[in-house]
Amino acid sequence: MTSLLLTPTSLPSSLQYKALDGLTNDIKTLPPALFYDDIGARLFEEICRLPEYYPTRTELSILAQYAPVLASQVGFDAVLIEYGSGAGKKVCYLLDQLESPIAYIPVDVSRKQLLEVAAKRSEQYPALDIVPICADYTQPFNLPLLPSRSRRVAFFPGSTIGNFHPADAVSFLKSIRRVVGQNGRLILGVDRKKDPEILHAAYNDQAGITAAFNLNILAHLNREFGATFDLSRFRHISFFNDEANRIEMHLESLITHQVTVASKVIKFEAGETIQTECSYKYDEEHLTSLAERSGFNIDTLYTDEREWFWVALLHPVSTN
Ligand code: AVJ
Repeated sequence: MTSLLLTPTSLPSSLQYKALDGLTNDIKTLPPALFYDDIGARLFEEICRLPEYYPTRTELSILAQYAPVLASQVGFDAVLIEYGSGAGKKVCYLLDQLESPIAYIPVDVSRKQLLEVAAKRSEQYPALDIVPICADYTQPFNLPLLPSRSRRVAFFPGSTIGNFHPADAVSFLKSIRRVVGQNGRLILGVDRKKDPEILHAAYNDQAGITAAFNLNILAHLNREFGATFDLSRFRHISFFNDEANRIEMHLESLITHQVTVASKVIKFEAGETIQTECSYKYDEEHLTSLAERSGFNIDTLYTDEREWFWVALLHPVSTN
């Protein structure tokens, strides 16, 4: 059926703003969404195939096993809205099982990947309306007109919810709650708290792909902003912060130097870092609290044999 396209610029302006804002702070940060230019998106696909990086494989196994029951819980006339569709294969487990779904709406910042995914899925599911939206999904975006009978189902896999600090995770899930409405559902991928050694290995792989992925954020800024980062002056660091329940990724400046970003001079001390990502790991108590504070109830938690990951089905708390 019809494929409608809503495609703004390659780098949403909210991301440019967040990048400069983060780099001019006392503690320097960059938004993780900046990882995913065409090269970064490909590096992330490589990460997903690494032996140490368990989340993708584990989530896929949970979806493979529980997609039929998930689909029956969701019911018919679903409109699947995927937040951060990436290479977008996970959704097929759901699309294959859902009864008469109406539309699939992948939302992603990586324009090239988004268009590839939209083309593939419309070939694969000819009866489905595919409406790709190129956007930073943390900002409001417009949905196409949908039949009134449709049930909006947000799909946010990959444990990307872990990239949000707890308070931001609440406001983000609240925004999803507003998008899906009272009859909607949320299918959420969540990485569970586990042995720090397993976590450490997953973000410090032997092949150095995670390091390349991390450093590429600077190359991305060079390409998009004409920034002057010399990648050989930085190194990848990643560790589990036990108190905060999160993996942190940083880029450490090896020497004292300065860089120009969008005609702003950014100074680095030797040993100073840019924090590029937090990846929060959840236990049941924290996940329940996150859901409750966001206006959702947990319907079902699906997990794997090792209990390393959850695919959670949530529904809005009824307001009457
Ligand atoms: C896409 C945010 C889920 O936090 O594990 C992988 C990104 N960063 N290796 C994660 C990532 C480093 C990933 N998420």
